[in-house]
Amino acid sequence: MYLTEEEQSWLAEDAGPATRRAMEIVVALGNIYGAQHLIPVKSVQISGVSYRNIGAAGLDFLRRWADEGARARVPTTLNPTAMDMQSWQEQGFDPDFAEKQQAVVDAFAQMGVSAGDPTPTCTPYLIGNRPRPGDPIAWAESSAVSFANSVLGARTNREGGPGAIAAAIAGRTGAYGLHLDANRYATLRVEVKAQPRSISDYSALGALVGQAARRAVPYFAGLSLSRADVLWEEKLKALGAAMAATGAVALYHVEGVTPEAIAAPMLAPNPTTITVDDLAPGYAMLSDDVDAADLVWIGCPHASLAEIERVADRVRGARLRLPLWITCARPVKDAAVAQGFAADIEAAGGRVFADACMAIAPVRDLGFAAVATPSAKGAYYLRNLARVQAKFMPLEDCIALAMGIFSKTSKI
Ligand code: F3S
Repeated sequence: MYLTEEEQSWLAEDAGPATRRAMEIVVALGNIYGAQHLIPVKSVQISGVSYRNIGAAGLDFLRRWADEGARARVPTTLNPTAMDMQSWQEQGFDPDFAEKQQAVVDAFAQMGVSAGDPTPTCTPYLIGNRPRPGDPIAWAESSAVSFANSVLGARTNREGGPGAIAAAIAGRTGAYGLHLDANRYATLRVEVKAQPRSISDYSALGALVGQAARRAVPYFAGLSLSRADVLWEEKLKALGAAMAATGAVALYHVEGVTPEAIAAPMLAPNPTTITVDDLAPGYAMLSDDVDAADLVWIGCPHASLAEIERVADRVRGARLRLPLWITCARPVKDAAVAQGFAADIEAAGGRVFADACMAIAPVRDLGFAAVATPSAKGAYYLRNLARVQAKFMPLEDCIALAMGIFSKTSKI
């Protein structure tokens, strides 16, 4: 692999152990994937932040790297933590777990993530880290990667946990995969016959297409979505997150909507074609046959202000019978508080939590065994990572369930 003189100097003894290790990881990954050179990146997003997932060994690794002098060379943000870093007691977290989770965030702060004041979220693009079309970046969280590539037209592979930290320290990633023009063409054409309406419908569509795509780049044709729809970004956020969960899809195009599909025909020659004419199987494939849920979770990926407003509109004046938790980035929560949406939700008995992701939280230890959510990705990871039962339902059904008035099926 070609390295500039400066890049070579970061591999030398006197570059220090932190920089040298970062460069070794970046170069090793580049070699594995056939990169001819490295690319300077404009931003990094790091995953592997939940103490439940990384444990004591992961925390020691981070602390050691930080103590060796690891510092982010480019703007870098952090994925969600397991808990709200300020309101974890209200979520029921154990103080010992909270202390360890705080230590993880502190190690990243020491590395200069978010200028030393990390704001954990999987939607950095909602709080100012919004790459421009064509920007090379190195992001790690699968839904954020999908959004950045597809909706913003930036370029990133899905970085692994240590790989993203290394990219932040080196300010580089390998020139391979989705950084290259040739790999951004769609190989799967999706004819959409069953039109999704709600955000959760887009999630159901994504669950189905992801399962069929299996790492391919899908191209959606016939989707009745335009940028005039006030929730168009939220719908594509849900679509991409679901495809990332069920099929590791990191890039997709929507005819006439996503930037690369507007600029050029992004279909490869002779693509495979599939047709989606029913969204119901998308809901069913991520729903356990449970009789009850004991938590409703909204905000996977982290909710936008508009999504929180929609929940507030539906629960205003009501009395919820089940816990209803919304997760979002802290600046979005602050805006929801300022607009009065958080107060409406809390008056009904719900809560708006910042920083947290329930899929990477010790959900059982918090007392929940079955969770209803309007997110296919949320349901997927609740089942496969948090190891609880999940029910993927439209938002209206989730809220009706929380109110104790859901009667569409006898299953839940
Ligand atoms: Fe974000 Fe967690 Fe969902 S990281 S995309 S809220 S599974």
